[in-house]
Amino acid sequence: MKTVLFYFSATGNSLKVARDLADELGEVKVLPMTKAMILPLDEKYEALGIVYPVYMFGLPLIVAEFLRKFIFEPRSYIFSVATLGGLPGRAHTLAQGILKNRDLELSAGFSVLMPGNYTPLYGAIPQERQQKMFREEKQRVRDIAGFIKERKRGIIEEKPFLINFLLYKLLYQAGSRRIPRADEGFWVKDTCTKCGICEKICPVENIKMVKGKPQWLHYCQHCMACLQWCPVEAIQYKKSTQGKKRYHHPDIIAEDIMGQ
Ligand SMILES: Cc1cc2nc3c(=O)[nH]c(=O)nc-3n(C[C@H](O)[C@H](O)[C@H](O)COP(=O)(O)O)c2cc1C
Repeated sequence: MKTVLFYFSATGNSLKVARDLADELGEVKVLPMTKAMILPLDEKYEALGIVYPVYMFGLPLIVAEFLRKFIFEPRSYIFSVATLGGLPGRAHTLAQGILKNRDLELSAGFSVLMPGNYTPLYGAIPQERQQKMFREEKQRVRDIAGFIKERKRGIIEEKPFLINFLLYKLLYQAGSRRIPRADEGFWVKDTCTKCGICEKICPVENIKMVKGKPQWLHYCQHCMACLQWCPVEAIQYKKSTQGKKRYHHPDIIAEDIMGQ
């Protein structure tokens, strides 16, 4: 194994990018971040990448935790690949800062545009636009693989810097502490069939079925996996998700996300 890729993904974009990148790079292991948190890898690697979605113009809390806890191979080439619906904010810079505190270096940070999945603000974009993005993703991943093979350093894709900085300050810095309890806003319609998919698909085991209905346990990542993968769209967030089109990457199935 030359490279290891750790992913976190709720609707499959980041998992798809991780898999495509693995195909381009060769000799890669793709592993879920959630399980690897406290375990050192038993195999040596030259390069380690993290692939994840941007949340609120910053890092998902679990990704930050991974970077704080994972036992990294000394002197390895570490890179960050963020998938995002619009703007990366300061996700890579945050990753860089956490690693720096551990005397480690983030060698490069790449951003890949994918369909957005934040249903409280917008529904899934039309199929044709999704397909166009998927075609562009393929080329983008090829380019990124080229940089990684060359062990390029110093690339941090966070343009335009000022807007990303301001949005990060406004949303992530001010609000990320409240994310774990943001699950108080989820509720379930009577159409819930008690199938339990939400419990199984939550990447951080934040959902427990109680009398056939999901209960959220307040260590949420706000990733929307429960809402997006509910087969009858019974899960809602506050008053803002009813009637909005759900999203997941067409090449990724629920079992893939459950595998985290
Ligand atoms: C809570 C939340 C916050 C998000 N914030 C941002 C953001 O700040 N900027 C952005 O471009 N996309 C944002 N998105 C969209 C996701 O980053 C994007 O759709 C990503 O590719 C989803 O990856 P996944 O399918 O692997 O979960 C957000 C999505 C969620 C659920």
